[in-house]
Amino acid sequence: MVSTFPSLNTIDLSRIRLTIRNLQPQLVEWRRRLHQKPELGFQEKLTSAFIAEKLQEWGIEHQTGIAQTGIVAIIKGKKTGSQKVLAIRADMDALPIQELNEVPYKSQHDGLMHACGHDGHTAIALGTAYYLQQHRHNFSGTVKVIFQPAEESPGGAKPMIAAGVLKNPDVDAIIGLHLWNNLPLGAIGVRPGALMAAVECFDCTIFGKGGHGAMPHQTVDSVVVAAQVVNALQTIVSRNVNPIDSAVVTVGELHAGTKRNVIPDTARMSATVRYFNPELTGFFQEKIQQVISGVCQSAGAKYDLKYWSLYPAVINDVGMAELVRSIAEEVVETPLGVVPECQTMGAEDMSFFLQEVPGCYFFLGSANPSKDLAYPHHHPRFDFDETALGMGVEMFVRCVEKYLGGAD
Ligand code: NI
Repeated sequence: MVSTFPSLNTIDLSRIRLTIRNLQPQLVEWRRRLHQKPELGFQEKLTSAFIAEKLQEWGIEHQTGIAQTGIVAIIKGKKTGSQKVLAIRADMDALPIQELNEVPYKSQHDGLMHACGHDGHTAIALGTAYYLQQHRHNFSGTVKVIFQPAEESPGGAKPMIAAGVLKNPDVDAIIGLHLWNNLPLGAIGVRPGALMAAVECFDCTIFGKGGHGAMPHQTVDSVVVAAQVVNALQTIVSRNVNPIDSAVVTVGELHAGTKRNVIPDTARMSATVRYFNPELTGFFQEKIQQVISGVCQSAGAKYDLKYWSLYPAVINDVGMAELVRSIAEEVVETPLGVVPECQTMGAEDMSFFLQEVPGCYFFLGSANPSKDLAYPHHHPRFDFDETALGMGVEMFVRCVEKYLGGAD
């Protein structure tokens, strides 16, 4: 069944909303089609072929094969005035998760699932491109719609930027959204500054000296050293980071040993580090190395540490966030629906685009517990209220018409 907007009976069906309301069945159809054929990062062949087919059908200029499977569509406004270029970014990839939803549009690819809503992002971006192509007389300048591969892993934004998607014509600003089951349908999360965290990772192996569990004095116990390291790492956020700054150090993997009475030679751990403040770049790597080195030295153990940075923090431009916030108020029709307390320690490679040009990434509430559509992202039963698709298109279209208003 096709959803309708949440408050249809109370709203003024403005020009934009009325048109998008008519587009809703298509948005749902595209999203469900994409949902049935999920593809992992840089393998989005069916997905990008579907996007290209639609853009072709609508006569929208586009380039394919950017960073393997990425696509950029270009739509030029017919109004005179601003010659600015606004980019809209959507990610297209799925996850290696077996879908547990029993729905007619269930994933047909074994072991793969659109469990984060990127199928919805692609459908929203397609709907936006379609609408803008039909309404070029309502804006000036140029809109670039960027369909990006591999957000989940290993990151498609960076190679797309390297391939020049922000150039020729040069992009002045960028917007993007994430369907968000942490917010109810009808709410929009937007704020200036940090929205999502920087993510760094490390793998560490502790080298002790194995032996008999009953004779620890003959060994260097890698289990005890690893336990001390895990504990000591927890003091970095609590004792070394300014309490005003949020940060997380999570050791999510710890492996050692094969038998209760054998002290193992080695212990391995893997961890993730999150923070908002870009001034902390480099701090955790140095401090974590110091802690591990100190603990190992005191125990007579050795270690091997591999540390790397994945994505920087998603930092919204103040002006662009204000633009999106003001539009969000129009779309949800009440300032109460606009949620500034929406920061998360989750990460997103939209951050690379935001490092290049000012922009705003925002969360589009998509949970609807009354329809059992409230499972968290990356859960095998994740799904969202498709009413949000039309709201996403409305957000983007209104942003375009406000940013590239031009002259009448
Ligand atoms: Ni996602």
